[in-house]
Amino acid sequence: MLLRRIWPFSRRETPEAEDVLQAKLDRRRLPKHVAIIMDGNGRWAQRRGLPRAVGHRAGVESLRCVLEACCELNIPVLTVYAFSTENWKRPVDEVNALMDLLVEYLRREVAELHAKGVRVQAIGKIGALPVMPRQELEQAMRQTAGNNKLTLNLALNYGGRVEIVEAVKTIARQAAQGALQPENIDEQFFGRYLYTAGLPDPDLLIRPSGELRLSNFLLWQSAYTEIWVTPVLWPDFGRRELLEALIAFQGRERRFGGVKV
Ligand code: IPE
Ligand code: IPE
Ligand code: MG
Repeated sequence: MLLRRIWPFSRRETPEAEDVLQAKLDRRRLPKHVAIIMDGNGRWAQRRGLPRAVGHRAGVESLRCVLEACCELNIPVLTVYAFSTENWKRPVDEVNALMDLLVEYLRREVAELHAKGVRVQAIGKIGALPVMPRQELEQAMRQTAGNNKLTLNLALNYGGRVEIVEAVKTIARQAAQGALQPENIDEQFFGRYLYTAGLPDPDLLIRPSGELRLSNFLLWQSAYTEIWVTPVLWPDFGRRELLEALIAFQGRERRFGGVKV
């Protein structure tokens, strides 16, 4: 009991069944954009004495499951953090395993994603990805460009700071050429120079694996995003956890700096 009070993540002894959670969910007040930091794959594998790459593979199954649930719920945008600009610091074998997994995922899933009406998009320094994942990604984006059921936004080689710096560079170049007036730069204008131009800001950000940080994810866009953290590791994250997050989101009071009226 005491533990539960000081450690907010201690799990209920009897987790609620999916149908109970479904009944609690108000389908008219779902977020338009859910963002997920797909974290905890390495720990999931290590706890089982398995190589980290096995954890990443298991994480792909969670993505399948969550994506399917988002389609069923008519959530229009799902952004998933798959590889950060800092993840290049990892051992080369792990980086290669992640890139191979991305290629495999796209090759295997793109037809089904297309059939479901999913539009694949990407945010990040895509041009700096190795040639195979880059080509596979470009092919998936081309093939699914006309779909509008759900946008699956893959954050790959993504860093929030780099994104902002790149936007600033482009704007500065255009200002230096006289193509824009600095006085005309406002928040809406700036947002159009980010990778996420045209997408709504995330309403809900989910971080599995218990870490309480953003890790350079959607720094600009998450200014007023509701954050939900769970100790569940990403490979163990499924429909139940998604529903829990959505129900928690619906219980939040979003004020955007104003007052409740
Ligand atoms: C997230 O899982 C996947 C990527 C960062 C690509 P991790 O590999 O970070 O897993 P942990 O945090 O070490 O458990
Ligand atoms: C964030 O997780 C990046 C992805 C999930 C792709 P990390 O595991 O890289 O973040 P830190 O190092 O714990 O902050
Ligand atoms: Mg991690």
